[in-house]
Amino acid sequence: MTESETPTPQPSPDAAAPSRGFPWIAVVVSGVACFGLAALLVNVFERKQEGRNPFVQVVELDVTTDDPAEWGKNFPDHFDDYRKSVDMTRTKWGGSEAVLRDPTENDPREFTSRSKLDSIPQLKRMWAGYAFAVDFREARGHAYAFEDQLFTKRQDVGQPGTCLHCHASVYKGMYELGDGDVHAGFEKLNEMTYDEAKLHAEHTIACIDCHDPKSMALRITRPAFAEGIAAAKAAEGIPDYDVNTMATRQEMRTYVCAQCHVEYYFKGDKKRLTFPWNNGLKAEDMLAYFDEAGFKDWTHAETGAPMLKAQHPEYEMWTQGTHARRGVSCADCHMPYKRVGATKISDHHVRSPLLNVNNACQTCHKVSENELVAHAEAIQGRHQKLVDETLDALVDLIDDLKAAKEAGATDEQLEAARYQQRKASFFVDFVEAENSSGFHASQEAARILAESIDASRTGQLKLREIGLPIETFQRTDEATAATE
Ligand code: HEC
Ligand code: HEC
Ligand code: HEC
Ligand code: HEC
Ligand code: HEC
Repeated sequence: MTESETPTPQPSPDAAAPSRGFPWIAVVVSGVACFGLAALLVNVFERKQEGRNPFVQVVELDVTTDDPAEWGKNFPDHFDDYRKSVDMTRTKWGGSEAVLRDPTENDPREFTSRSKLDSIPQLKRMWAGYAFAVDFREARGHAYAFEDQLFTKRQDVGQPGTCLHCHASVYKGMYELGDGDVHAGFEKLNEMTYDEAKLHAEHTIACIDCHDPKSMALRITRPAFAEGIAAAKAAEGIPDYDVNTMATRQEMRTYVCAQCHVEYYFKGDKKRLTFPWNNGLKAEDMLAYFDEAGFKDWTHAETGAPMLKAQHPEYEMWTQGTHARRGVSCADCHMPYKRVGATKISDHHVRSPLLNVNNACQTCHKVSENELVAHAEAIQGRHQKLVDETLDALVDLIDDLKAAKEAGATDEQLEAARYQQRKASFFVDFVEAENSSGFHASQEAARILAESIDASRTGQLKLREIGLPIETFQRTDEATAATE
């Protein structure tokens, strides 16, 4: 028992698999000296015990243990990996990179991640009049989730408590606010201001957000996901879906992530966290949902269009891809098994799988690491080119709308084109805000981008039908250069 003192609570796949015994038997047959043999058998025996033993319980965990360091006393290897999410490492299109800054009283962070507003200039036009046009950065590890939300400049507009759900360990807070009823606590948290709500959480995303403290089984702790997935299942014809009792273990290896890595909005005056999945999980299903609800996130400052903001639909996009189709879960790639002594544990250093290709991909794909990275980057490179073209088309529509508005077109005359802006913007945002740069479902991403370009160009045509002089839409060389 040297390499690991903390066997897994679940029987490791290793312990049961007969294949583990075979190499040692082969050694026996080839006639190794007796002394060596005995030593080996003892070693094998010990290692197998290690794989099977329940974990060493040092502390007792319950529903109010939100400090991951406490859980770490029982599971030190998991805790070590979990803490590695502070690492910031770039990949070609993903990962993250530390950018130094001067700490201020309002924002004590010494470094953040790169600003996406600098790297993708069209975004400021797309979000004109909305807080995202002020501060939008690359995602980084779970270790930063709480502080990045506390200190983003998007807080300057006064955010609701609802924000906290995906950025901090709120399970204990909801449990206590609801006197043991997490759903009741959820309702209370939503209605608070962010400044009130943040006092009900102490840690960033932690063990208790994904695990039952008694059994260590995966479980859904976020009411918004339980409701959202039930609505999506109902749309597929499966009524009364209860995720915590009906999901398979393999599904849970995706669903725990889908509690947060999804499109969402704040419904009504109570700012209730809601996933817009009543019609299904595709971009047009959500657009239809928002249209039916008459919902807008903001009014576009340049054009007056009623806009929608899409955010990180990793789960929804994944459902449309090749890997989901073959049953490959988020955890398979982002938390692959790794070996610690004789046990296999799930790597709790959640990060870009392209930094961990050996464990994340090569278990299934028997090709070289270089080839796998090259293949992923080829998909992502084509994708980014298409995103850029799509954003240019949207900026063209925004320019035309603005020109028509300045030339005196009425709201009625602008309505059709404004709707096309809403649609084009939501679709390209849906793809851009999805953090895999097309990898999770490249063909679906391309399809959505094509729909977005079509909407932008349709909007421009609608404006040409309202009878303004054609010069209205002619740009000076300077203006054209600025958008190219
Ligand atoms: C087949 C493997 C695979 C599966 C399954 C998968 N991903 Fe990914 N994911 C990737 C790859 C590859 C990237 C691109 C990473 C990069 O560009 O560095 C990525 C990127 C991401 C990113 C951005 C990471 C970064 O470093 O920029 C997030 C967040 C993410 N995935 C979440 C999810 C979620 C949530 C699920 C499940 C709903 C999921 N992924 C399923 C392979 C996978
Ligand atoms: C449904 C879950 C969820 C909710 C609710 C949520 N976030 Fe996030 N947030 C995420 C995820 C997942 C990421 C990482 C992926 C990304 O950056 O796109 C993220 C990233 C961020 C980031 C870092 C990247 C960036 O955008 O600059 C900030 C800051 C942030 N959120 C602020 C907020 C604020 C403010 C609110 C409330 C208005 C909020 N979040 C509500 C899930 C959520
Ligand atoms: C409680 C909400 C929550 C849960 C659950 C969650 N995430 Fe995240 N995740 C976030 C937020 C928020 C961020 C962004 C943090 C930041 O930028 O400060 C993030 C960041 C990430 C990143 C890093 C992206 C980068 O560019 O480095 C990856 C990868 C990721 N999550 C994958 C997953 C996977 C896989 C799961 C499930 C095993 C999961 N997350 C579960 C909220 C969550
Ligand atoms: C974002 C979700 C998430 C968080 C946070 C999380 N885990 Fe896990 N954990 C998982 C997933 C997914 C698995 C794989 C479970 C399965 O396959 O049934 C897992 C598995 C485990 C296992 C079972 C053995 C193994 O390695 O597969 C242990 C023990 C464990 N986690 C401990 C912890 C501890 C301790 C923390 C906090 C320091 C933690 N986890 C935080 C998602 C999470
Ligand atoms: C659990 C198994 C599994 C894991 C892990 C896995 N894949 Fe796959 N991958 C598949 C399967 C199955 C297919 C579908 C092709 C097939 O059926 O032969 C696939 C397809 C692909 C494709 C072609 C997809 C397309 O739409 O063109 C690429 C590229 C790919 N995988 C890359 C990766 C990378 C990179 C990783 C690691 C981040 C990874 N895979 C992890 C099983 C896996």
